[in-house]
Amino acid sequence: MSSADIQILVLHGPNLNLLGTREPEVYGKDTLKDVDKGLSLLAGELGVGIDTFQSNHEGELIDRIHAARDQGIGGILINPGGLTHTSVSLRDALAAVAIPAVEVHLSNVHAREPFRHHSYISSVAIGQICGFGVASYQLALRGLVMHLSG
Ligand code: DQA
Repeated sequence: MSSADIQILVLHGPNLNLLGTREPEVYGKDTLKDVDKGLSLLAGELGVGIDTFQSNHEGELIDRIHAARDQGIGGILINPGGLTHTSVSLRDALAAVAIPAVEVHLSNVHAREPFRHHSYISSVAIGQICGFGVASYQLALRGLVMHLSG
């Protein structure tokens, strides 16, 4: 597949709408708008299309994943927020559509509280990037596009 045909869906889970003011010592000072703007610029450089969606509701994220299959989305970049550590249903939605997905976290979840060490998402993702702040998203997008164009 040439990168010009690739459409990427970026999903942000619960509480990520508060980026910039939410625990800035952990998640940084950039807002979600900043993150999405950076991703749009990088997508332009890489020659792929991008669509972004944030929700605080598990079911809305699941519905968006289901719709992605009909929309011909080639890859999903997802920061599931706290649902990473709790949601079998989100995991099952990704498995159901079988669209290659990369799991992203701003913080290094493995160096934090033990309840953050387990991810339900990792086993259905092609990879996980965490700990680089906003750059985690950029690295994940590059990795996903390389995977899809390779
Ligand atoms: C997070 C890490 C999660 O443990 C947490 O619940 C979040 C953000 C991150 O980006 O570092 O909401 O996904």
